[in-house]
Amino acid sequence: MTHAQWNAVDDYFTAALKLSDDVLDATLKSSTDAGLPEIAVAPNQGKLLYLLAKIAGAKRVLEIGTLGGYSTIWLARALPSDGTLVSLEFDARHADVARTNIERAGLAKIASVVVGPAAQSLDRLIADKATPFDFVFIDADKENNAVYLQRALALSRPGTVIVADNVVRGGRVADPGNRDTDVAGVRQYFEATSADPRLDTTAVQTVGVKGWDGFAITVVSA
Ligand code: SAH
Ligand code: DHB
Ligand code: MG
Repeated sequence: MTHAQWNAVDDYFTAALKLSDDVLDATLKSSTDAGLPEIAVAPNQGKLLYLLAKIAGAKRVLEIGTLGGYSTIWLARALPSDGTLVSLEFDARHADVARTNIERAGLAKIASVVVGPAAQSLDRLIADKATPFDFVFIDADKENNAVYLQRALALSRPGTVIVADNVVRGGRVADPGNRDTDVAGVRQYFEATSADPRLDTTAVQTVGVKGWDGFAITVVSA
């Protein structure tokens, strides 16, 4: 099995399932043109997030890590016209690109980007007693994953779905010798979800244009 074969299957899914369109293509192109890293979720992964948000009946989505707004647009498209998506982004340049893309997608009434370190933005949402979110997507600096989980729980209700991206990292998560901070953050995330009886979690590995990686999926049960 080679990376080229994984890519070919992702490309096949993208074509067969019509997972790209002008708005999504323009979002990726403007992100690349602006020099943003090409690390957005793959098209079939964006559709997975969209479907999970639909299955959850989400009206309010919290995203941690906006980049150019590609996953933001997939998630915002899953929401009713009176839905709300708040996306947290550290880098003002990324946020500017994302806002342009959200506007082009016709989703500016639903999706907004908050600039700043996500932990601080989350603390502000908690202090402001924000209405709980129905769906949370964690996809920022992996070393803070457990911090984001803990803050997300303060902004959740029973039934909230929490998805974390990049929990496999090319298999590094299972290498006992690995001391990378991103891997440590992913492991702390799994330790925290397993230690909390309110949380029901699994993780799935993925291969494709994003290499070998995966998602953690959690439901808050109480
Ligand atoms: N969710 C996006 C990809 C996000 S990439 C998609 O799939 O389309 C990760 C993003 O998290 C980057 O834009 C990075 O600037 C941002 N980020 C990194 N550290 C952060 C922090 N401490 N607070 C908020 N955002 C952060
Ligand atoms: C990286 C970050 C991501 O969110 C992702 O999906 C892929 C790669 C990274 O930092 O390398
Ligand atoms: Mg990611």
